[in-house]
Amino acid sequence: MPSPEPPHPELSSTVERSRLEAQRRSDLVAERVRTEPASLCVLTGDRPTGPLHLGHLFGSLGNRVRLQQAGVPTMIIIADYQVITDRAGTDRIAEHVRDIVCDQLAVGIDPAKSTMFTHSAIPELNQLLLPFLSLISIAELQRNPTVKAEAAAAGISAISGLLLTYPVHQAADILGVGGTVVPVGLDQLPHLEVTRLLVRRFTEAYGPCFTAPEALLSEAPVVLGIDGTKMSKSRGNAIELRHTADETAALIRRARTDSDRRITYDPQRRPEVSNLVLITSLCTGEEPRAIAERIGDGGAGALKQLTIAAVNEHLAPIRARRRELAAVGDDVLQVVRDGNVVARARATATLDRVTEAMGMIY
Ligand code: TRP
Repeated sequence: MPSPEPPHPELSSTVERSRLEAQRRSDLVAERVRTEPASLCVLTGDRPTGPLHLGHLFGSLGNRVRLQQAGVPTMIIIADYQVITDRAGTDRIAEHVRDIVCDQLAVGIDPAKSTMFTHSAIPELNQLLLPFLSLISIAELQRNPTVKAEAAAAGISAISGLLLTYPVHQAADILGVGGTVVPVGLDQLPHLEVTRLLVRRFTEAYGPCFTAPEALLSEAPVVLGIDGTKMSKSRGNAIELRHTADETAALIRRARTDSDRRITYDPQRRPEVSNLVLITSLCTGEEPRAIAERIGDGGAGALKQLTIAAVNEHLAPIRARRRELAAVGDDVLQVVRDGNVVARARATATLDRVTEAMGMIY
């Protein structure tokens, strides 16, 4: 795969500068996680569009558990209304919510330390949207690169009002429950910028009500699916946490590779082979290059055997816990019911401050 042409030189240096600035700020947040975890509040979450997979585990879930263990109060949204930003209908949504709850508990999210809640149970978050929507123009929303990319990824030509306002919903999610730290990938930064912009404008218009949240940039590498494109719930290319060891083996055996027998770690020129090496490395902790060298001329077959063993071994305890949780049935959702009470109390308190700041006390 050829690496993409750099954009216009001036633009690329602007992008580079803002990336460095984002990294610098994120490093400061990481430092505060170490020194004063209890003073922060992480807000993070997922849309319940399907079960979580290896990409989530190494990209966001592992980090989520680390933040929780570091003592940062953590709020985890299950963004059910946002499922319909880029697809029609809520097919199997209850099942997806249950899957996500089981996945997170299985990887180590502890309900005593982290609060899991569903967007639809917190109407106050949607009420916050009204003042927020008054503070941003349609042109600004239309310029948001993350929304454009999400629409393109979903193959959507007509962007709905809900998708266009997605970053504003996200701002309401974050600010409504008092999130001050949001773990993101670089691609999600523009969303968070909208939240920070809304805080500035709200403060100018009505006085201080919110603290602008900071991005905590993820260091996680992008994990590809078995077809060589980004691992994704909707592409059918994912190794899911809930899969069995046999299903995992069958999937990895089908993974795309290339015709060069010698195994090397070269993500730019050999993305598919390197991805299998990377997944193995993430599971075992061994350096990718050392793994590739060890296999050498063994070919893709030997690499796949190694990857299968590494993934299945790493996931075995997670899967065992997940099976126990899934066997509990709908009772596992009690965690969310409890979380909803906590999140709703926080959102109600925020909305009270907002309506007061806006003079709507009658
Ligand atoms: N956008 C996230 C996703 O697509 C889910 C989400 C909704 C979220 N609201 C949020 C993440 C607020 C962080 C903060 O999976």
